[in-house]
Amino acid sequence: MYQQPLIICHRKNTIKQFKKIVEDLKIVVLISGKGSNLKAIAKECSKKNVPARIISIISNNPNASGLQIKGKFKKKVINDKLYDKKCFEFRLQNYLAKLKPDLICLAGFMKILSSLIIKKWKNKIINVHPSLLPSFKGLKTHERVISEGVKKSGCTIHFVNETLDGGPIIAQGSTMVKKNMTVKELQKKILKIEHIIYPEVIKLFAKKKITIKSSKIKEKTPITKKRKKKK
Ligand code: GRF
Repeated sequence: MYQQPLIICHRKNTIKQFKKIVEDLKIVVLISGKGSNLKAIAKECSKKNVPARIISIISNNPNASGLQIKGKFKKKVINDKLYDKKCFEFRLQNYLAKLKPDLICLAGFMKILSSLIIKKWKNKIINVHPSLLPSFKGLKTHERVISEGVKKSGCTIHFVNETLDGGPIIAQGSTMVKKNMTVKELQKKILKIEHIIYPEVIKLFAKKKITIKSSKIKEKTPITKKRKKKK
């Protein structure tokens, strides 16, 4: 939990004020592939822009290039090819239970979690999805956006519940889909937004600015960070 206790020590007539002890939000990041969101989160945490600490990354894919990241956190592979879904989740749950994270961040994690994990970590699992939910749930979002001629797309950070890509929305970032844009170009553009808003959302969690009541986000704090204009 994120706390800011101020310790004051009275000794003879002197008051020594110790440095503020800030306990960072403990987060675990789950990946399956490149891990560019993981990198963005790790960067903002290490620069102390986000008062959170990655305690472990977990990958279901032993070949995920995101596992190459360097940092003071544990790296755990639970190879989903070696276990059936129940056994995979049992292992995942055991590991998470040992770590006791404050927040679990899915970042390009390509497995659908069952209610076993979701219930155990209720309102503590968030995900990034590359579309403006509730539109374009599921896979191949950019392909579908382009083929349907949609003019605006983006990304969403949302709570994970039992409905695929259907949990309460925490934050969104949008961009125009230009004429003749390729899937790669759109993906690149949206990924850049993901890298800004995911760390910002974690920051809001750390500052206890996000609460959820009866499946509704009680306090939505808009993320108004301006992106740098192209010169
Ligand atoms: C991102 O576009 C994310 O929205 C989606 O998968 C992609 C993974 O990117 N869930 P990365 O692994 O963080 O680079």
